[in-house]
Amino acid sequence: FFRAVLITFCVCFSTVSHHSLAGIVEVHEGAESVQLPYQYSGDIPEVNPSVLWTRNDLNPKIIHRQREEGADPSDQNQLYRKRTSMNPDFLDTGNFRLTLRKPQLSDSGNYTCTISDGRVELKLAQVQLEVKGEQSRLDLIFSANSEITGVVIFYLYIMNIQFTRLGVIVK
Ligand SMILES: *[C@@H]1O[C@H](CO)[C@@H](O)[C@H](O)[C@H]1NC(C)=O
Repeated sequence: FFRAVLITFCVCFSTVSHHSLAGIVEVHEGAESVQLPYQYSGDIPEVNPSVLWTRNDLNPKIIHRQREEGADPSDQNQLYRKRTSMNPDFLDTGNFRLTLRKPQLSDSGNYTCTISDGRVELKLAQVQLEVKGEQSRLDLIFSANSEITGVVIFYLYIMNIQFTRLGVIVK
């Protein structure tokens, strides 16, 4: 009986670990870092090119600005200070992926990737980041597969009866 409970929980956890949605990046608070992907294949401005990641719900809205010569933190939102980076070879590879260290709940939001020559800005993509706390990790387990959740609840119910019979009250 207990082995059956254990197996059920294992199935639950393996379902959760593959949970992901297209266009949305999910990460748990406390992770070392998270990456917002974007692969660019268009033209690069010849003069003064820079790539920006922004959040339009913040002021200042700039999360990260990458120039040819490196990151430019001069107009960066201080909430993201020293937590962001991009590949130094971004102009050659078109890999505009943003790495964000130590994601926090308040980092959840929509991030826009933009290319600029200092005068004209061209919006390229939007990536939605969801940073989840410990509580929602539990929610995920229970939303992962409602059939399995039903079985788990049924086992817990039976287990409770067994314990009650033994004189142990499970709260
Ligand atoms: C991000 O964008 C999605 C769809 O474009 C929207 O449903 C969601 O509410 C937005 N989130 C925030 C925090 O603005």
